[in-house]
Amino acid sequence: MGSTERDLATDIARIVRATADEVAGGAGNELIDRVTGHLEAPLPEVVVVTRNWPMWEHANIQRGVDAYLAEHGTAVGWFGIAGGQRTHEDLIGMLATARSKGMYELGSVDYTTTATGPHDATEAVQLGLVGTSAPGGEPVLVAIRGATPQWGLEQCRLEVLSTSRATATEVRDRVERLMAEHDLLRGQVLAFGTSEHRANELLTFLPRPALTDEEVVLPEGVLDAIERHTVGIAEHGGRLPAAGQHLKRGLLLHGPPGTGKTHTVRYLMGRLPATTVIILTGTAMRFVGKAAELARRLQPSVVVLEDVDLIAQDRSYGPQVQPLLFTLLDAMGGDADVTFLLTTNRASELEKALADRPGRVDLAVEIPLPDAVGREALLRLYGRGLRLTADLAPIVEATEGVVGDEELTTALREMQDARSALTRSLLGSSAAQ
Ligand SMILES: Nc1ncnc2c1ncn2[C@@H]1O[C@H](COP(=O)(O)OP(=O)(O)OP(=O)(O)O)[C@@H](O)[C@H]1O
Ligand SMILES: [Mg+2]
Repeated sequence: MGSTERDLATDIARIVRATADEVAGGAGNELIDRVTGHLEAPLPEVVVVTRNWPMWEHANIQRGVDAYLAEHGTAVGWFGIAGGQRTHEDLIGMLATARSKGMYELGSVDYTTTATGPHDATEAVQLGLVGTSAPGGEPVLVAIRGATPQWGLEQCRLEVLSTSRATATEVRDRVERLMAEHDLLRGQVLAFGTSEHRANELLTFLPRPALTDEEVVLPEGVLDAIERHTVGIAEHGGRLPAAGQHLKRGLLLHGPPGTGKTHTVRYLMGRLPATTVIILTGTAMRFVGKAAELARRLQPSVVVLEDVDLIAQDRSYGPQVQPLLFTLLDAMGGDADVTFLLTTNRASELEKALADRPGRVDLAVEIPLPDAVGREALLRLYGRGLRLTADLAPIVEATEGVVGDEELTTALREMQDARSALTRSLLGSSAAQ
């Protein structure tokens, strides 16, 4: 390298350094200006207090922040961050990068749509900041970030920027209290499930079923007993007034496939309109701990565990430890106003520990194959659209208990196909398949 070249290189280095210093000084970066301008302090004096939430809390965070802004006003309207790899870095990192490398700039707010009910959705800030003030009047910035699982950010995030950690914490706590006050999961029917597209857990809103007691065909007195144990107690706020004692409810519905266990659970959901319902079926059963936690937060609530034998098999069946069973037993033993509705068609295999303590399963009800009266009621119920005026007695008689009568199962299947609400197994023909 000759001397001219060396001089040139030195000059370039100098220019680069000067440019970097200028950016570092904040000159020309509106994003930094907006943050430091509102907080009235340079970036190095800014602290961030963060709280992560499961991704389904996104709309709740938005609600909490909106409620906070309603209380304390908006000093600097929502703004966003443009440029760079904004999905990876945390907020303070992004601001620092903006300062040192000029990679991020002031941008418009990113919004996303998120469900607020079975039929409703809302716009929520996916990445944005807003300037407001703390309860004591100090300027603060509040930021919302939605989860971006595709970029490895599995949770959504609430961030508060201030020059004082105590102030930022105070604001975050207030937003969280407002989130709890306006919690939109409360009173909803929610199902845990897994999405094929994302490997993380998801919560879905379901419409609350509305079934009448006439649509639930069970032996005399059975539905009454079930209702007394669930709806009846819930109507007393979870307390037996005379005893003044908190009563936890655990109800197990067991019986052969297709006899109406799930149907009965759906009926109960409709009879408990203000109650939060959290449903776990199949592989979602592994979220039992999360479901129980949510149920406590959203009490009064009901946790529905379908085919609970999947996790609650008798430990003597094998040496394998079932951590989910322990989580379940633990959850059922808590003192929150949470009712557990369990269904199974393998009651005999269930772990005894489920029932051996008050507050766990305290009522087990068998939902049997229908008797003659039941079968007639079912045929009438589901035959409504079929002009079923004929005498049902022969069919009722012939469907007794029953397995393997080809002609009958064929005849019945035709009826069911016409109005396929009734499972084949309900009429005892499943074993004939
Ligand atoms: N007792 C009943 N009264 C009215 N309808 C019923 C009854 N049993 C079953 N049905 C009808 O059959 C359908 C299937 O029944 P359901 O899903 O409740 O069975 P299940 O007992 O939960 O079976 P599984 O053990 O396989 O889960 C219901 O959606 C309903 O339409
Ligand atoms: Mg079922």
